[in-house]
Amino acid sequence: MQTPRATAEHSAAQTPPAAADQTPWWRDAVCYEIYVRSFADADGDGVGDMAGIEQRLPYLADLGIDAIWITPFYPSPQNDHGYDVADYCDVDPRFGTLADFDAMLARAHGLGIRVIIDVVPNHTSSEHAWFARALAAEPGSEERDRYVFRDGRGIDGSEPPNNWRSIFGGAAWTRADDTHGQPAQWYLHMFDATQPDLNWHNPEVGDEFEAILRFWLDRGVDGFRIDVAHGLFTPVDLADTATGDEASIFHQPEVHEVYRRWHRVLAEYDGDRMAVAEAWTDSPETTASYIRADELQQAFNFHWLLAEWSAEAFRDVVVQTLEAVGLVDASATWVLSNHDVVRHVTRYGGGETGLARGRAALLTMLALPGSSYLFQGEELGLEQVDVAPEHREDPAYFRGGSEGRDGCRVPLPWAGTQPPFDFGPGSGQPWLPQPAEWSALTVSAQSADPHSTLAFYRRALAMRREVNRGLDASVVLLDTAPGTLGFRRGDGLVCVINCGGQPARLPDEAGDVVLSSSPLDEPGTLPADTAAWFRAATATRPG
Ligand code: BGC
Repeated sequence: MQTPRATAEHSAAQTPPAAADQTPWWRDAVCYEIYVRSFADADGDGVGDMAGIEQRLPYLADLGIDAIWITPFYPSPQNDHGYDVADYCDVDPRFGTLADFDAMLARAHGLGIRVIIDVVPNHTSSEHAWFARALAAEPGSEERDRYVFRDGRGIDGSEPPNNWRSIFGGAAWTRADDTHGQPAQWYLHMFDATQPDLNWHNPEVGDEFEAILRFWLDRGVDGFRIDVAHGLFTPVDLADTATGDEASIFHQPEVHEVYRRWHRVLAEYDGDRMAVAEAWTDSPETTASYIRADELQQAFNFHWLLAEWSAEAFRDVVVQTLEAVGLVDASATWVLSNHDVVRHVTRYGGGETGLARGRAALLTMLALPGSSYLFQGEELGLEQVDVAPEHREDPAYFRGGSEGRDGCRVPLPWAGTQPPFDFGPGSGQPWLPQPAEWSALTVSAQSADPHSTLAFYRRALAMRREVNRGLDASVVLLDTAPGTLGFRRGDGLVCVINCGGQPARLPDEAGDVVLSSSPLDEPGTLPADTAAWFRAATATRPG
């Protein structure tokens, strides 16, 4: 059933079969984010790796996902855990080799799982060969023009060139030494000082990234997740901005030309290759500007992730998202958690309440048209971990830009009754300590319990495949009780979520129950913090 790619030279480049109706696979896929260093460790060094991913792929196939997105695994000093890339066309020895990557890719494809990898075009690592050459070169040189070097302000140029702030906290500029070891020009870094921003006005940068995309497309990857997709260009005048933060710096119009070029590159390959933008925007309309027909295929819908636990907030995001993607004829995406944010069970209040709400929000997003992105460990109901200061690794924590993201990145518990919970072989501990309470949440413990969150995710994903088939993308909002949101998908499925504090009456359109996130004890009523799918009552009426 597998079809070789026209352009592929590699044996790994086998793609899962195309959908019979020719709809691109990504339009309604469920994609699972693998944070590579925290997923599974095959060699016992406490850090996840390619071979670990490969070994656990059957688990993912069984979970029922369609694709994986793997966070950066390229050679890197790991100052931002791989989002500081020193070489875009290789695998960091901590994570394996290119051969390990190929083996993992081939196994994923063999199981019908697509593979999306991360591309980091906004900045390189300060250990990238280009940056080393830039530092060794003179101001105004070609080598420096690949980055954003400027003279400082003030006496002796000792003040940064402008007031821009790094997203990780502190100034967005660091002063470099000249070739005689004296403080000289400054370079821009919208993240850590070890992540110098590239100068996308320099055509060499665009050419290099096209070659990087082709390198991985030729190996057979199905798509790319584009890191900081909205940030590649910054205002050329480098003027101070009112607040100095990224909102007034990113989303420069030139970025869209880059994605038009990438669209053309992807289109040269068969198998509906795709790219999904990590673009934090102020509105679904701005998000949609990245997914016009000749640009990227998808963009993460962070408005869904950012919505508070309220039916009104969810309704607003659904309406605005579907309107915005409709304008550009794109498909929607939905996401609740990723490696940069507090896990959603914790955001929704934690404990039993947070878990119930998390399951309800999941069921709701899986009923919406488009594709859903899951973050590893959410299928286990994991919460944010309070990582002790001495174990912190996130540069954003140290630069004061956030509470830190280590708490959502704690390695997964697979089996056993104490850390490392089979994360790796033997008793060696993973790079971040796991809470002892996770013994009840391991994959193995939850697989044995039909009421577990894992069992619920498996049922929901299996059921989604079944009910989604044949449903058109239309969504009709229903007139439902206060505190609830209800909608009908096509003629077939009704979904209702109750964010109010009390049980709520179900709408007449809700027919037989298909699946619920918590038990439905009383007929015609939906408990608080619960969502459920129903067959649409109208669909079963004769005539
Ligand atoms: C990634 C982060 C990373 C940052 C800088 C993002 O948005 O998701 O994890 O720290 O880009 O590359």
